[in-house]
Amino acid sequence: MVAAGPVVAPAWRCPVCRSLLSLSGDRRVWSCDAGHDFDVAREGYVNLLLAGQHRSRRPGDSPEMVRARRRFLATGHYDALSEAVAAAAADAIGTTQSAVLLDVGCGEGHHTRALQADVVLGIDVSKVAVASAARAHPAGRYAVASGADVPLADASVDAAVVVFGPAVPGELARVVRPGGAVVAAHPGPSHLQELRALVYPEPHPHEVKPPLRGSARFEQLDAAAVCFPVEVADRDILSDLFTMTPYRWHAPPDMDRRLDEATARPFTTVADVRVTSYRRLRAP
Ligand SMILES: C[S@@+](CC[C@H](N)C(=O)[O-])C[C@H]1O[C@@H](n2cnc3c(N)ncnc32)[C@H](O)[C@@H]1O
Ligand SMILES: [Zn+2]
Repeated sequence: MVAAGPVVAPAWRCPVCRSLLSLSGDRRVWSCDAGHDFDVAREGYVNLLLAGQHRSRRPGDSPEMVRARRRFLATGHYDALSEAVAAAAADAIGTTQSAVLLDVGCGEGHHTRALQADVVLGIDVSKVAVASAARAHPAGRYAVASGADVPLADASVDAAVVVFGPAVPGELARVVRPGGAVVAAHPGPSHLQELRALVYPEPHPHEVKPPLRGSARFEQLDAAAVCFPVEVADRDILSDLFTMTPYRWHAPPDMDRRLDEATARPFTTVADVRVTSYRRLRAP
């Protein structure tokens, strides 16, 4: 266990042998008793993703997507979402004195930095994203790791948040302590529909899929609709918003022209996000 201010932060877990890692006195290396070592990067994060785990079909956000998300979120257009997620997480864990929060698929960390807890942890499979998150948030603890194999001990966090990221129910149930919580932000039916209308001839409403629906290890506590207009006057910002979404994979060849035309006058779209909270049930 490693001290972080007044509260003890959970140690990372070795991705090879799954025993806990400890941080060297000079804070440069995490290592386990079996001799597996993981260097702390210049930005302060540790890469716990093993070589084989990189070869997924979706290896996480590309550097271009991370940069676009960082620039877009820095405009403050999504701050209402950061605040809603942080408030839902605070509500779900109550006023415990020593909360440990984990952001799964934290990206470049904009929403992570808004979380209020003694210890804030973030993981993402994108190394570029984690480097950016760690650089911007020295008080947080970040690791390159997958939400499908979270490098933390069982029941080591009070709550996990997943914002437009991958929710793996089994791993969330393992690392969130019984009685703890998961807060997931996921698209509502009209999320960014005006942006989608630039891409698809007939944009269908998003199907609302609460990520832990049907899991026997969680009960749903709350589901809030967080809807707010996103007014984008700047062509580059709209392009960043587009680039950070999955719609980019469906861009028509003349997408640049469509973005030019859309920003010939102020462009407004709606963020329609569902913030769904769950309690981790005490029974297994
Ligand atoms: C849509 S982005 C959201 C990022 C951040 N939560 C936000 O809202 O700004 C999804 C993130 O999940 C990450 N990701 C994808 N698959 C993952 C996995 N298996 N484990 C952890 N992160 C993953 C991507 O690299 C990306 O940063
Ligand atoms: Zn090990």
